[in-house]
Amino acid sequence: MDLVAYFSASGSTRKVAVNLAEAAGAELYVIKPAVPYERRDLNWMDKKARSTVEMADRNCRPGLADTSAPVADAERIFLGFPIWWYREPAIIDSFLEAYDFTGKTIVPFFTSGGSQLGEGQERIEELAKGAKVLQGRRFRAKAEEAELRAWVESL
Ligand SMILES: Cc1cc2nc3c(=O)[nH]c(=O)nc-3n(C[C@H](O)[C@H](O)[C@H](O)COP(=O)(O)O)c2cc1C
Repeated sequence: MDLVAYFSASGSTRKVAVNLAEAAGAELYVIKPAVPYERRDLNWMDKKARSTVEMADRNCRPGLADTSAPVADAERIFLGFPIWWYREPAIIDSFLEAYDFTGKTIVPFFTSGGSQLGEGQERIEELAKGAKVLQGRRFRAKAEEAELRAWVESL
């Protein structure tokens, strides 16, 4: 089966993930941090904001609320997130280290203010040991099911 596992702080990636799960006939799983991000944690203008501090440390691995994603049952995992500081949020790194992805295919997708995945592509490839990682793709929050279905069929 296909799995759509996503993290979304303010809802844009969630919209894409929900439509993608529908388009791909996939199960949906929400990646949740043990401590939720509050609005003030997301202020990238603030050097002391939680997200700024976490993203400045490439080894930061925020705790996960649970490790019950059905990764073992999935052949292909669509991994969704917003771009934070030109790459994947640290909680995605936590997720990638919490499961065994050997033999699985990971397909990153993301929303952003315009940035592409950058170094995030290589980071995901390194963290998801034994997995085949496809090229990540950016979507607008408004991406419709037809666009997402066409993408899934092209993979
Ligand atoms: C802490 C933080 C850092 C961000 N860094 C970037 C960035 O480097 N490039 C970019 O295009 N957008 C950046 N954004 C914007 C988000 O990627 C964009 O708003 C995204 O669609 C939010 O998704 P969400 O609603 O699922 O959380 C950042 C947002 C936050 C909160």
